Amino acid sequence: MGILGSPSFVTLALALCLLLNVAALCSSGGVTSSYVRKVEKTLDMPLDSDVFAIPPGYNAPQQVHITQGDLNGKATLVSWVTMDEPGSNEVRYWSENSKQKKLAKGKYVTYTFFNYTSGFIHQCTITNLEYNTKYYYEVGLLNTTRQFWFVTPPQVGPDVPYTFGLIGDLGQTYDSNKTLTHYEMNPRKGQALMFVGDLSYADHYPYHDNVRWDTWGRFIERSVAYQPWIWVAGNHELDFAPELGESVPFKPYTHRYHVPYRASQSTAPFWYSIKRASAHIIVLASYSAYGKYTPQYTWLEQELSKVNRTETPWLIVLLHSPWYNSYNYHYMEGESMRVMFEPWFVQHKVDVVFAGHVHAYERSERVSSIAYNITNRRCIPVKDNSAPVYITIGDGGNIEGLANKMIEPQPDYSAYREASFGHAMFDIKNRTHAYYSWHRNQDGYAVEADSMWFFNRYWYPVDDSTTH
Ligand SMILES: *[C@@H]1O[C@H](CO)[C@@H](O)[C@H](O)[C@H]1NC(C)=O
Ligand SMILES: *[C@@H]1O[C@H](CO)[C@@H](O)[C@H](O)[C@H]1NC(C)=O
Ligand SMILES: *[C@@H]1O[C@H](CO)[C@@H](O)[C@H](O)[C@H]1NC(C)=O
Ligand SMILES: *[C@@H]1O[C@H](CO)[C@@H](O)[C@H](O)[C@H]1NC(C)=O
Ligand SMILES: *[C@@H]1O[C@H](CO)[C@@H](O)[C@H](O)[C@H]1NC(C)=O
Ligand SMILES: *[C@@H]1O[C@H](CO)[C@@H](O)[C@H](O)[C@H]1NC(C)=O
Ligand SMILES: [Fe+2]
Repeated sequence: MGILGSPSFVTLALALCLLLNVAALCSSGGVTSSYVRKVEKTLDMPLDSDVFAIPPGYNAPQQVHITQGDLNGKATLVSWVTMDEPGSNEVRYWSENSKQKKLAKGKYVTYTFFNYTSGFIHQCTITNLEYNTKYYYEVGLLNTTRQFWFVTPPQVGPDVPYTFGLIGDLGQTYDSNKTLTHYEMNPRKGQALMFVGDLSYADHYPYHDNVRWDTWGRFIERSVAYQPWIWVAGNHELDFAPELGESVPFKPYTHRYHVPYRASQSTAPFWYSIKRASAHIIVLASYSAYGKYTPQYTWLEQELSKVNRTETPWLIVLLHSPWYNSYNYHYMEGESMRVMFEPWFVQHKVDVVFAGHVHAYERSERVSSIAYNITNRRCIPVKDNSAPVYITIGDGGNIEGLANKMIEPQPDYSAYREASFGHAMFDIKNRTHAYYSWHRNQDGYAVEADSMWFFNRYWYPVDDSTTH
């Protein structure tokens, strides 16, 4: 019998627990949900599904999607695809109050991937919009014109309420469709969606069949044509396939989903920031270099120094690969980025970090591991009131299925975890309070499976832990 199994070791360990309360040895963390989802295969919806229907009419615009087009929310970037010919590059738009139509002119691109050739991908930024205003917009020509609308955010400012939805790792299965429906039907009414990476999962198919990028664009149109989705690049956007002659990473993603990265002085679309209502949102790239001296590192250092909590009280970070994850899936993949950036997040009092990648749900306590310096042994996460809450929301429901194996016992830093598909809402009330809720797909639309009142780290840095 080895030392670990010997009675004296057990006694010693117990004594240590009592005397020193050594967290890693004896205590377990928060809640591992007792909800057990029925194990089913997640299957992609077939190509002839209703959600993939091609809009009628010659060269009709399809895959219409919008995102914020500038730093402050006075511009909207509209994108759509035409399949037969380029067609019109223009967006006609008008505000609810003035029926006078205006025109914005865009550009289109095409790309090839192995033996796939894309349609004509249009990108057009509408600028100088009024805040807090409903706009209608039209794309296409004559008999194939399609009309949509969106509402611009309120002017950036400290106490403007705003509700963000959260979805990650969506894919295009029957479960993905349930997640999207639950988001649309949520009575809290998301006004913009933060999408934490891994979009279509087209790379699951032989030759990364990019037809699945097109079907995904048609699937999500029913939401993203009407409210901006804020994009984060995940590993399924890499589409790195040298064996197919495709060795430029992110090719389909960067052609299809543009983001306003230049507005925040970024030099690449994978890391950037926007301000929307009372939130300053920083998007980071788990799959672009982030070591010291890299473009992303130097950009983030400057970006954090620009955050003005008087203007935008809420500091939110989005990235794909989580830093605090107690599932066996993708375990510690986010560790190297955590080592680089975590001290800055604590110093600048980031309120919350949302990640995807792990196909399940998890919410952390406010903890940090920044004391550790390789020689001092202080390598256990500790409660830290200036640290963000880390939320893994990679539970959109893609074809790879659920992550349901967890590290046991639940570590102290994990406040709540559950292997179910769902989405979340971050509902900012004012500069001090935001209400957060997580909704699993098996429940009614209004049901909250997990929730938390967030107290702003800058304006109201009171302990907001749900477990103590
Ligand atoms: C739309 O207009 C084009 C050109 O005028 C015509 O060829 C086509 O048949 C029309 N399509 C529909 C669905 O009306
Ligand atoms: C691409 O190549 C694959 C393998 O040869 C083939 O099955 C597929 O039909 C081709 N697709 C197109 C659009 O040519
Ligand atoms: C997807 O969800 C929508 C809305 O609930 C529904 O109308 C549609 O039939 C669903 N499609 C599939 C293929 O599940
Ligand atoms: C921060 O924002 C407030 C409100 O917009 C403004 O009055 C102040 O000058 C800004 N501070 C800095 C350092 O820019
Ligand atoms: C590591 O941390 C310890 C204690 O926090 C400190 O005394 C020591 O100087 C640090 N080592 C280095 C190389 O910074
Ligand atoms: C901020 O919102 C919270 C929650 O709705 C509320 O309790 C609080 O009174 C608000 N603060 C102010 C200053 O209005
Ligand atoms: Fe991922």
